[in-house]
Amino acid sequence: MAAQVYSKKDKKFPVLPNLADYEKLHAEFNWSEASKELDWFEDGKLNAAYNAIDRHAKGDRKDKLALIWEGAKGEKKQYTFLDLFKLSNKFANLIKNKGAQKGDRIFIFLPRIPYLYTAFLAILKNGSVAGLLFSAFQEQALLDRLSDSGAKILFTNSELAKRVEGIRSKLPELKEILIVDTPEFENELAAQPDSFETVKTDPSDFAFMLYTSGTTGKPKGVVHHHYAIVAQHATAKYVLDIHDTDIYWCTADPGWVTGIAYTILGSWSCGVTSFIDEGRFDPSRWFQKLQDYKINIWYTAPTAIRMIMAEGEDLPKKYDLSHLRHILSVGEPLNPEAIHWSIKTMGMPFHDTWWQTETGCISIANYPTMDIKIGSMGKPFLGMEAAIVDDAGKPVANDTEGNIALRPGWPSMMKTIWQRQEKYDSYFINNWYLSGDRGYRDSDGYFWFIGRSDDVIKTSGERVGPFEVESALVEHPAVVEAGVIGKPDQARGEVIKAFVVLEKEYLDKVKTTEEAQKLKDELSQYVKKHLAGHAYPREVEFIDKLPKTRSGKIMRRILKAKEMGQPVGDTSTLEEY
Ligand code: PRX
Repeated sequence: MAAQVYSKKDKKFPVLPNLADYEKLHAEFNWSEASKELDWFEDGKLNAAYNAIDRHAKGDRKDKLALIWEGAKGEKKQYTFLDLFKLSNKFANLIKNKGAQKGDRIFIFLPRIPYLYTAFLAILKNGSVAGLLFSAFQEQALLDRLSDSGAKILFTNSELAKRVEGIRSKLPELKEILIVDTPEFENELAAQPDSFETVKTDPSDFAFMLYTSGTTGKPKGVVHHHYAIVAQHATAKYVLDIHDTDIYWCTADPGWVTGIAYTILGSWSCGVTSFIDEGRFDPSRWFQKLQDYKINIWYTAPTAIRMIMAEGEDLPKKYDLSHLRHILSVGEPLNPEAIHWSIKTMGMPFHDTWWQTETGCISIANYPTMDIKIGSMGKPFLGMEAAIVDDAGKPVANDTEGNIALRPGWPSMMKTIWQRQEKYDSYFINNWYLSGDRGYRDSDGYFWFIGRSDDVIKTSGERVGPFEVESALVEHPAVVEAGVIGKPDQARGEVIKAFVVLEKEYLDKVKTTEEAQKLKDELSQYVKKHLAGHAYPREVEFIDKLPKTRSGKIMRRILKAKEMGQPVGDTSTLEEY
């Protein structure tokens, strides 16, 4: 079936888009030219935080608002680039005095408060490596990340610090926990000078790391270097279409890569004023913010969009959205209905963008001036080569399903997987980086998403590894073993479903439906409490036996096929089931 196209031909943009002619720029673009938009120190040194904030604070944008913040209780604060420069310098002095050195891992476990952002900037200015922890994480998720990275200092608040107390003794390398909402911290911070000599890092020095999930094993630490800002800056300019006069809102939390690349690094590097909302998602409240803060560019995610759509077409119409110019989405497939809906209710289409924690920047995108083939992720970013390849890394013909791959070498490609070189190496084949996603390219060069090639789950846009959830479940005394899958869900993309084999004595206890439901709820809550609030199974099913290969690997694809009522496919490697 031919794709529906949203033509941009006669569309007027209130401000000229940065990119007028994709095909031309794509042919001409090169990274060495693009990197000149950044401020480099002598001898080819580059610091990403310097480029995000310091250079503006030292130049014409010093009194320009960098951050407009609204707290969860409606508190309001504003910071200019100069304010953020000074405050992050104080943070940098503070951690330096605590012994933080170049290359040390310093983690942040905070809600979206201004100190999260200044701590992040300070860590980079000091040449240390910033690690981010999503505020929904519980003990097990925190322990996995803090111990694997050997984190030395942790920024958190009094509320979240409680989750670290029980694991502290298992973290011998964690020397200091800084609780930012205490008078002691405020006093210590106030005593720091507001100037700091930003470390002149090499472009290839590590800047930040994020743990992310695959099919097997615990989450892995994806490490990015300072040079990544070259790609984050360029994508913020050409895909997000950031202009100096814009007010921009990216709804992502910096516990995930989007909140780092496009709230802190690429977007501030372009000198934009960012709105940051600490509060939770709520459709009407979000529209109120779009109106009140006169947002021009809005970068959000499909689950939020679907939940907004569920409120009905009248919702956007109640608000003055006349400032809105460009709206985008990332993280999961953007359904065509969402685009039709936004055209109808807001007069403009959502622009889908595709990328990953590992790619560090938007890699395939619908550009402001490019026609949208509704349902497609768009075309590769300027200077990037994307292809569909087979399992041997050989490009396949147009319109043929295969692995979505990128040619290595763009500036924000992950630098390494923390202390797991073999894992890093496993991403590459035949000089292609394999994303783990399946898709196809059509004859016009547009890329279309099909699904994951592995068992990684995307629930409400957040990436969850089944192994982590299975590991959390088997910690519960009732569970012998568990197999976890992502089950398609209209609102959340996928929900987590766990198939659980019970211990004999528990089996005897769940004779009635009510008893069974009680235990199912208990297991869900157990994962929520021990692993993470967003990673708990919404559905639990008791099962006698899990399908496994003869070597003992859980066959999640069989669980999924059965759940979906689909044929189970090749079962020749399966142990008797
Ligand atoms: O499966 C793809 C999906 O999200 C994965 C990456 O997740 P994460 O590392 O958490 O980064 C998300 C934000 C950058 C991808 O492998 N994904 C991301 N964008 C899209 C998508 N799936 C379909 N369409 C997209 N636009």
